[in-house]
Amino acid sequence: MEKSKKYLILTYGCQMNVHESEKLAGILESNGYTHCTDATNADIVVFNTCAIRENAEEKIFGNIGELKNIKLAKPDMIIAVGGCMSQQKNYADEIMQKYPYVDIVFGTHNLADFDNFLKKRISTGKKVSEITEDETIALRDQMLISRTSGVNAWVNIMYGCNNFCTYCIVPYVRGREVSRPEQDILNEVKKLLSEGYKQITLLGQNVNSYKGIDENGNTVSFAKLLSDVDGFDGKYRVRFMTSHPKDLSSETIDVIAKSKHICHGIHLPVQSGSDKILKTMNRHYDIERYKKVVNEIREKIPDSELTTDIIVGFPGETEEDFEKTLEVMRFAKYMQIFGFNYSKRKGTPAEVMPNQVDYKTKQERLSRLLNLKNEIIYKKTAEMLGKTYEVLVESYDENKDLLFGSLDSGKTISFKGPKNCVGEFLNVRVKEVRKSVIYGEIADDLETLNLTEKTFKQPIQVSILPKDGSGMKILRQNKENKRLEDNEKSKAKNK
Ligand code: SAH
Ligand code: SF4
Ligand code: F3S
Repeated sequence: MEKSKKYLILTYGCQMNVHESEKLAGILESNGYTHCTDATNADIVVFNTCAIRENAEEKIFGNIGELKNIKLAKPDMIIAVGGCMSQQKNYADEIMQKYPYVDIVFGTHNLADFDNFLKKRISTGKKVSEITEDETIALRDQMLISRTSGVNAWVNIMYGCNNFCTYCIVPYVRGREVSRPEQDILNEVKKLLSEGYKQITLLGQNVNSYKGIDENGNTVSFAKLLSDVDGFDGKYRVRFMTSHPKDLSSETIDVIAKSKHICHGIHLPVQSGSDKILKTMNRHYDIERYKKVVNEIREKIPDSELTTDIIVGFPGETEEDFEKTLEVMRFAKYMQIFGFNYSKRKGTPAEVMPNQVDYKTKQERLSRLLNLKNEIIYKKTAEMLGKTYEVLVESYDENKDLLFGSLDSGKTISFKGPKNCVGEFLNVRVKEVRKSVIYGEIADDLETLNLTEKTFKQPIQVSILPKDGSGMKILRQNKENKRLEDNEKSKAKNK
């Protein structure tokens, strides 16, 4: 029997990319490939890249470089590089030149064409490099999806971004906003629920500006979409990301407040606490507006929990501006904060703004931000001790003999219990708190729940080299083979 061909997908960046890798996996599986966890076993390696910050790009380039020796030993292995980094101007050519062993380069809008690129590469042996600017292609995607996120299913509701925050590369690599028709989304959600998925996350760069059409051609707002996604039978959760503070409407907050299934944990990136910086970031809100939205959420959804993204060291940010960021953190009492050093992105307005902040200052501010973040989160976490929460059990770790689940707020909790709890909603009491980590115990009587074991594909841990260290041996061997090969070649030439 022919050995089945193997694929490895390395995913960088946001949830959007995680989901798009599931689509790439679907294409590869329909071509007869099965997954593997490291490049030394792979017949094809796909990099699904991110360009959001410089360190993301450096890591990816480093990883593509690491593949060189493996490719030398396995010349038939196909290497493909797609996603946001490839989509940037001139990057496709740069990748092909710097890494001549890369076979396929494709952009963010070419996902649906990946099948053709792969077949073309295999049948002609020629390299393929295709980047298009046409974002509407994404709407064609009725692709096979190989979901790997356990009880979670990601659903795109829109693609692209029109906001042009001055630091951000996304609008340049993801194109303008296009919304999927509402019925396509509802059909997908319905199918996922019937397949047993328990947590649906609606994805878009700015979900609040969703503007789809219904079957009669009428415009559908995000609030209406949310309320329709909330309308299915059974027990499930709905999350969405990301919300833009300028666009999160009262109508949407009302829908969440009245809903049965929509989580009360809301990701609301503030980016900065200074009006001056928010203005130069082109965020279209000030802190007064932000606080008004937060207050409205708190009033209408008393058990809501917020999470946020913050950039420190944006050009022109003074100590005073930064202190305002700390102030908004104290005000919003976030459950989680993702803090980033500002990173220059090619072609964005902020790249050439005056008063760039030096690295040392950025680092110092980031560490102060992290200290305050911990203070806020530890305090909030401590208050959870002894309380009982509804938890969606997401996975079971055999080595630790522990179940992992998520609260409505998105916070993770671990506790002892049988494996067949995965995919169930259980009541769990918080019995121990260590800094921001919480441990619990099941508060339900499992006997009465009649649990059955369900199978969910869990995310697999992938890496370029095998985890057991055998990779270094492979690389040394490959280098040696190459040296011998070169010797043979030069001998043949000299004859
Ligand atoms: N569309 C989402 C998220 C986009 S990217 C939103 O608008 O919130 C995720 C986060 O990365 C952003 O919220 C921002 O905090 C951060 N980010 C984006 N560009 C960045 C840059 N150039 N430097 C540092 N952080 C950046
Ligand atoms: Fe980037 Fe701003 Fe669009 Fe988010 S809203 S993707 S931060 S441009
Ligand atoms: Fe996401 Fe990175 Fe692209 S954050 S949209 S994968 S630039």
